[in-house]
Amino acid sequence: MSYVEIRKLTKRFDTTTVFEDIDLDVEQGRICVLVGPSGCGKTTLLRAVAGLARPDSGHIHIDGRDVTHLEAKHRGVGMVFQHYALFPNMTVEQNLSFGLEQKKLPRPEIAKKVAAVIALMGLEPRAKARPAALSGGQKQRVALARALVLEPKLLLLDEPLSALDAQIRKRLRDELKRLQQDVGFTAIFVTHDQEEAMMLGDTVAIMQQGRFAQIGAPADIYNRPKSLAVANFIGDFNIIEPSAVERLFAIRPDHAWAIRPEAIDILKLPLPPGSKANGLAAEVTVTAVQVLGAMVRLYTSAQDVTIKADMVNKPDAPRFHIGDKAEIHIAKSAIAEMKE
Ligand SMILES: Nc1ncnc2c1ncn2[C@@H]1O[C@H](COP(=O)(O)OP(=O)(O)O)[C@@H](O)[C@H]1O
Ligand SMILES: [Mg+2]
Repeated sequence: MSYVEIRKLTKRFDTTTVFEDIDLDVEQGRICVLVGPSGCGKTTLLRAVAGLARPDSGHIHIDGRDVTHLEAKHRGVGMVFQHYALFPNMTVEQNLSFGLEQKKLPRPEIAKKVAAVIALMGLEPRAKARPAALSGGQKQRVALARALVLEPKLLLLDEPLSALDAQIRKRLRDELKRLQQDVGFTAIFVTHDQEEAMMLGDTVAIMQQGRFAQIGAPADIYNRPKSLAVANFIGDFNIIEPSAVERLFAIRPDHAWAIRPEAIDILKLPLPPGSKANGLAAEVTVTAVQVLGAMVRLYTSAQDVTIKADMVNKPDAPRFHIGDKAEIHIAKSAIAEMKE
């Protein structure tokens, strides 16, 4: 049995079904990241797990216990939201102590736990500050600390970094990953940001229209989408229809292929003597060159098919120009078939 087990969970509001019969597993000490378009039901799912929304049917188990009908406060679940919701009139320390005081822990124990989490989060210099005196990043660190100090069995994070600017967001993301590895908490983390999902998730679950379109390891989700809906959502694939595959490579697959631009090798013609393609090869013409920074994106065309290929922008990499003839090589392992 998984540490967190969601089985056949259904939630409706009046006549609209937010999700139906969904299953999700999270192993202890792991982060499961939920991604999906706005309105697909991510927050509602977290609220159901937390006990803040009542599911219409199905079950939720946490650490071997059926919590489906348990009150929120008895579930041992912590939540962190996009908006920090700190107590404005309390210091950082008081914000962190509050939950433990509610639990009627002895004072010395509260002080010890709070001090430990403050140290863990690097908040010592701000321990006596009130929220108004903190930056956005610091507030969110306090919000996370406030959840962690209660030692929840499960932490639910609903787009906790979305309100922060890009640089702070990346820094907090790194900190969160390190913290998770040190402390080993179990979490379900919701985000819109693909990079955040890949970087934080031990598993990534793509939620679309109230169901999971795909659940898997980040590398698999990134390289091996099962459906066009997933490939389009996680973006930037070459989607090649069976008829186009046939024109390019003289084989006809049953399903369209999705291939990442960086998974395609592009070589100048004529090839050096003795070079051999690893996988499939096709001759193409370069139609556009975009220097994007770390990568150079080449648009190429062959048999009325456009193919994007990305090259790492190394100083000694070959330079391509519009009109150049080139050969693309695609390893079989780079091809994801859109079976659904
Ligand atoms: N309390 C509610 N009453 C009625 N409909 C709701 C309520 N909460 C959410 N919904 C609807 O449920 C759907 C999913 O919402 P939500 O879980 O917030 O999506 P997400 O977090 O993925 O953006 C939306 O269509 C939303 O309008
Ligand atoms: Mg939401």
